[in-house]
Amino acid sequence: MRAIQVSKFGGPEVLEPVELPDPEPIPGLELLSVTASGVNYADTHAAENSYLSAQTLPFIPGAEVVGTLADGRRVCGFTASGGGGYAERALIAPAACFDVPDGVSDAAALSLLVQGLTAWHLLRTSARMAPGETVAVIAAAGGVGSLAVQLAKLWGAGRVIAVASTPGKRDLAMSLGADAAVDSGSDDLAGVLREANAGKGVDIVLEMTGGPTTDACLAALGAFGRLVVYGMASRTAAMPVPPTSLMIGSKSLIGFWLVDCMKVDPVGMVAQPLRELVGMAASGALKPLAGTAYPLAEARRAHEDLRARATTGKVILTVG
Ligand SMILES: NC(=O)c1ccc[n+]([C@@H]2O[C@H](COP(=O)([O-])OP(=O)(O)OC[C@H]3O[C@@H](n4cnc5c(N)ncnc54)[C@H](OP(=O)(O)O)[C@@H]3O)[C@@H](O)[C@H]2O)c1
Repeated sequence: MRAIQVSKFGGPEVLEPVELPDPEPIPGLELLSVTASGVNYADTHAAENSYLSAQTLPFIPGAEVVGTLADGRRVCGFTASGGGGYAERALIAPAACFDVPDGVSDAAALSLLVQGLTAWHLLRTSARMAPGETVAVIAAAGGVGSLAVQLAKLWGAGRVIAVASTPGKRDLAMSLGADAAVDSGSDDLAGVLREANAGKGVDIVLEMTGGPTTDACLAALGAFGRLVVYGMASRTAAMPVPPTSLMIGSKSLIGFWLVDCMKVDPVGMVAQPLRELVGMAASGALKPLAGTAYPLAEARRAHEDLRARATTGKVILTVG
């Protein structure tokens, strides 16, 4: 089968198209003929071994796939090993996949897994958003961000402030329902966030950039505000935060990693929210944003564009 393999750690250049044998059958797992693979920002970290979990060489990246089972069912799900997705065939656990409803595209189905579940948990589990609250979403035109903007509105946020780096991305976020959009490159991000919230601190910020952006988001919080940190796209750490500094303003700093949901409660924290997301996508209430689809052999270009902030929505590799 055709696949993309990483044999040494590094940037997008280490993603090499190769021919490999199909995965060996494993009892309890099924072989999926992959039509498309999801690309996540985490894959760019895995390629250089800077992800939260260490990688072992060689490996096929990619944790989410959509395709056809031997019985003809069109399903979408996580790969059994958490990798192996950038390939023509992948092993998946039947319990970890869902039937893709008619009318839901490969890109839309894939967007609901890592990115959809993350957006769901950031708002529900981590920030515990209440109706009427103000939510600022960093990288609001991206995979997670574009879904977080929509879910926050669907669940009754009082105001959603989209943060993005270009006018085109900000317009896109507004078209998804954001109430205001601000430039992530502002010299005073905390100030522009408060300004976009009628001069008040914001209740919730969903942040995944790291470095000075995290510092600014913490400074933008109002009383009882929650900053949820779930990524470090800039590959730069934020300033250390002494716990006592959170006392004035009664602020919370919260971390999130989807893997913990899978470990703690695969049914209640993965299968059930996924069912809700699939239902919302099938009914049209949630509109996953399809980004660029790259041929499998061009996985390198997909990673280059993701790292260069040149993508929006769900990036996929077309395989079958
Ligand atoms: N903790 C978890 O369980 C979990 C799960 C899923 C995703 N994540 C994290 O969530 C973030 C978004 O993931 P995604 O797959 O949906 O990607 P994405 O948002 O579609 O793409 C990344 C976006 O990050 C923004 N960004 C900010 N600073 C950047 C920088 N220095 N370099 C590159 N991009 C930068 C860019 O948007 P602008 O140009 O608008 O700034 C870029 O388009 C990633 O950091 C990812 O690791 C975490």
